[in-house]
Amino acid sequence: MATPDYNLDSPTTLLAPGTLQGAPINLDPTSVVAPSREQGIYVGSLTVPLTDALLHGGEAGKVAIKSVEDGRVRLPRNVRREVRLLAGLQHDNILPLLNAYLTPPTSSAPIALFTLLTPLYPLALPTLLSTPSFTPTTAPSSSHFALLAHSFAHQLISAVAYLHSRDPPVAHRDIGPNNVIIGREGRIVLIDFGISLEVGEEKEGEMHFEIGTQPYRPPELIFASKTYDPLALDLWALGATLAEFFTPLEAPTRPSPPSSPPSDRNGRWADDMSDDEEEFDSAPGRQTLFDGSRTDFALTGSIFKLLGTPTLNTWPEAANLPSFGHFRFSPFPPEPLRQRLPNLPTSSAPSHPSPLDSDPSLRSPSSLPNSPLLGIIEGLLKISASQRMSAREALSDERWRDIEVLKPVDLGGSRATTGGDSVEGKTLGELLIDVVHL
Ligand SMILES: Nc1ncnc2c1ncn2[C@@H]1O[C@H](COP(=O)(O)OP(=O)(O)OP(=O)(O)O)[C@@H](O)[C@H]1O
Ligand SMILES: [Mg+2]
Repeated sequence: MATPDYNLDSPTTLLAPGTLQGAPINLDPTSVVAPSREQGIYVGSLTVPLTDALLHGGEAGKVAIKSVEDGRVRLPRNVRREVRLLAGLQHDNILPLLNAYLTPPTSSAPIALFTLLTPLYPLALPTLLSTPSFTPTTAPSSSHFALLAHSFAHQLISAVAYLHSRDPPVAHRDIGPNNVIIGREGRIVLIDFGISLEVGEEKEGEMHFEIGTQPYRPPELIFASKTYDPLALDLWALGATLAEFFTPLEAPTRPSPPSSPPSDRNGRWADDMSDDEEEFDSAPGRQTLFDGSRTDFALTGSIFKLLGTPTLNTWPEAANLPSFGHFRFSPFPPEPLRQRLPNLPTSSAPSHPSPLDSDPSLRSPSSLPNSPLLGIIEGLLKISASQRMSAREALSDERWRDIEVLKPVDLGGSRATTGGDSVEGKTLGELLIDVVHL
């Protein structure tokens, strides 16, 4: 593993240049812009653009700056561990750390500050998912949408497979659209290792379960397990995230009332919710597969309604879950997942186009090969953690054999060869720019 480098010798202000593993960061101190709704991170301009070796599919002249107070945040958040993990991870689809500074406490600012510098990416996955043109009916063609969705899904699964293949394996523990960003050429980047860990770091019986983002939290966390497989959390969250590529768009809804659970309206277990997050969001949103808007009961109900209510026979681990035996749940039979994913590319007729999808006649599903993602999502979303498909299995060549997947050009990607005129000859970045403004 790479040696952790907190750059402790650098000047104590984030605006000063410093180096991590020899990489110079030349930040223009006057250029730093505070986080916006679109980009929840400080953004700074560089006086010398990042070299290709450091760019990692990000914006050449800019850098993202994340500042976290050392030790302030709710457990198990741990910025030191975040820095250490990021410094040791190297993968095309994992956020690279350019530099990290520790600003020691002073009398006027008594809490030490960690500052992480990373490449900046122009698009966040939630923005793409709520873009009406990122659906098969409103994209320039349905094969356009299919190529984008498959290519992005494949990269996201690669990121998780890489984390889980490390020695010791790394569990992200907060996979969801909020923690996925996208480069101009279509590179998917997994971010936010604030609650991640190496397997074995938390002791069995003492593991944190108040973690993750509500619609992506698996049953074992909802039922307060303190002894769980942290990699299996990622597999469930990956399944729920991939499913969201194919759920319908929905009209905006009002945020849930303040008496709701200890999560914000995006369902994060937030430690720093602010009043301005209560404002009404007028943009359309992508339906989450599971209900993350209200209580754990609503989330549990939505899981059981789709996957069927488990029993101790089908979910033996539940015998050890503190709160499972306290409740009696209505026995729901499992529903076909396909019905909930109307936008999933398939050769059979689509079931329910979204009310916001404009012209169903544009859809030409019969020309598309069946997506491997239905089987993958089904395999990942198993109530019993031990039955979930591994990320490596989800990535197997066998599953993806008949499907065209494009890589970003900066990762050696080529142009599309199938899918008809609106797609053929285009790069992943060109397909992306056709559906979303960057
Ligand atoms: N390198 C980056 N480029 C572009 N946007 C980024 C980058 N890093 C983070 N963001 C945006 O900022 C948001 C917050 O970043 P991150 O998730 O790392 O921080 P956090 O403090 O853990 O916040 P949260 O509580 O929202 O998860 C992300 O959801 C993403 O939209
Ligand atoms: Mg985050």
